[in-house]
Amino acid sequence: MGRSRLIYRSTCTDTFITNEALRALVSKSAENNRALGVTGLLVLSGDQFLQVLEGPDEAVNDLYARIIHDARHHHLRLISYEPIAENYFDDWGMSLVDLYDLPKAAREILMRKYPCEGDAIQFPERLHEIYAFLLDAKTICLSRPWES
Ligand SMILES: Cc1cc2nc3c(=O)[nH]c(=O)nc-3n(C[C@H](O)[C@H](O)[C@H](O)COP(=O)(O)O)c2cc1C
Repeated sequence: MGRSRLIYRSTCTDTFITNEALRALVSKSAENNRALGVTGLLVLSGDQFLQVLEGPDEAVNDLYARIIHDARHHHLRLISYEPIAENYFDDWGMSLVDLYDLPKAAREILMRKYPCEGDAIQFPERLHEIYAFLLDAKTICLSRPWES
């Protein structure tokens, strides 16, 4: 069986966006994904989610089918679904990168590179830029360059 990578974006439902609700979603998701052999990254900027999921075809498909029907977000847009030989995000469980909560120095790195509206970093539109953005977000959070 093959492996695939799926990327989508969505808008968080108004009533959902509390720290506690997000924490509950992320810990449950991390537990589920570990059992499924799925890895990835969930980014939140303002009320916008961007998620990448990598794993066995069937697991990624089934998971997305569940996520689509989740009332905690809406306006889902599938950005990319492709077979993969290599993981890009397997060094990352399923944790949340909340751009609003990042240390200033980390936010500034992203704000110099990606479009912003006021204080909110916008997810790029073009696929290669979305990849760059996700990899940057991951690298910035893993290596914590603002601490060195
Ligand atoms: C933005 C967003 C991202 C989600 N990501 C995942 C995920 O990566 N893994 C997961 O199992 N559930 C995820 N969910 C939750 C699923 O929609 C669903 O509620 C959950 O998988 C059900 O798990 P349970 O049957 O174990 O309660 C996400 C929901 C939202 C709103």
